[in-house]
Amino acid sequence: MSNSKTADTFASRLLSWYEENGRKDLPWQTDPTPYRVWVSEIMLQQTQVGTVIPYFNDFVKQFSDVATLAASTQDQVLRHWSGLGYYARARNLHAAAKQVMEEHDGELPDSLDRLMQLPGIGRSTAGAILALSHGQRCAILDGNVKRVLARYHECDGWPGKSAVLRKLWALAEQHLPDRDVSLYTQAIMDLGATVCRRRPDCAVCPVATGCQARASGRQFACPGRKSARKKERRDVIMLIARLPDGSVYLERRPPRGIWGGLWSFPEIDRPSEAANWCQDRLSCRAEHSQELEKIKHSLTHIEMNIRPILLDVVPTGVADAVMDERQKVWYNGASSQPLGMAAPVGKLMEKYAIYKERH
Ligand code: ADE
Repeated sequence: MSNSKTADTFASRLLSWYEENGRKDLPWQTDPTPYRVWVSEIMLQQTQVGTVIPYFNDFVKQFSDVATLAASTQDQVLRHWSGLGYYARARNLHAAAKQVMEEHDGELPDSLDRLMQLPGIGRSTAGAILALSHGQRCAILDGNVKRVLARYHECDGWPGKSAVLRKLWALAEQHLPDRDVSLYTQAIMDLGATVCRRRPDCAVCPVATGCQARASGRQFACPGRKSARKKERRDVIMLIARLPDGSVYLERRPPRGIWGGLWSFPEIDRPSEAANWCQDRLSCRAEHSQELEKIKHSLTHIEMNIRPILLDVVPTGVADAVMDERQKVWYNGASSQPLGMAAPVGKLMEKYAIYKERH
């Protein structure tokens, strides 16, 4: 961990930069009471500053303090949140206001622990309220700050992992200056929002000289991203049974699972089973069998290798006793009812122009 001199450099450079370049006239900055900072921080959790400003102004005009907010109905609160989205934020804000009236005499608590017991207030939001409104030495760690610190210390772990998050919190605390915490907090947020963005503008960054990710050209690797889960590979054999008029056999898949409820070619375990399968299940005799070229089909978690077996069949004249019209169909392209089909079925039909009449 760096010593306090390093922390000093980082914080003091940020503070000087902020004087010149930071945002200072945002509406919640002009009168940063705990209530106004709280409302703004909740609004800013998922929404950009430019969108928040008019909502914030309207909200604090309508609900000027905790007591007014607590005494309002949820409908009134939601009406003034309407358009900002993520309405759980508004419901939590309202519930928290009531809790503050009941448990804290209408004053937002001034400790991290007690703030964090209110609905919708996590550690970073609690830290922001205390730092921005009371100047308390509390760290924040929102998305912007995570990016700044992860790059400065070349931390390429994914912050969704608790060990990485712990490390970032420790760094956030370590860099806190002894004074001017409020300005510093606004500065580090502004740096993340305006300079150390996803595509960073290192040329104008006040802490570029100490930035380890920049030194090794790894700004884009920090913070790390969630590693993509390795996809399962699955081989599937699809049986395309085709009648002389070109119609092909489709079954409706079970309601749950892959392609639930959609129509698909049946799957079989081995190509050698194809002829018997048609005899047993469709009362059809196979005249000709051909393994078509494989196709790949990618689902969220599965990489499928589909081996299509095209089997030209003729009915043996014995009606299939277990035929259930709703679940099974001989499909003949344009002349059949449109069906909701599993994606590779359409692909296969198109690729091999399957339902052409045989000669
Ligand atoms: N994002 C979260 N909090 C913010 C603040 N106080 N100012 C600007 N952007 C923010």
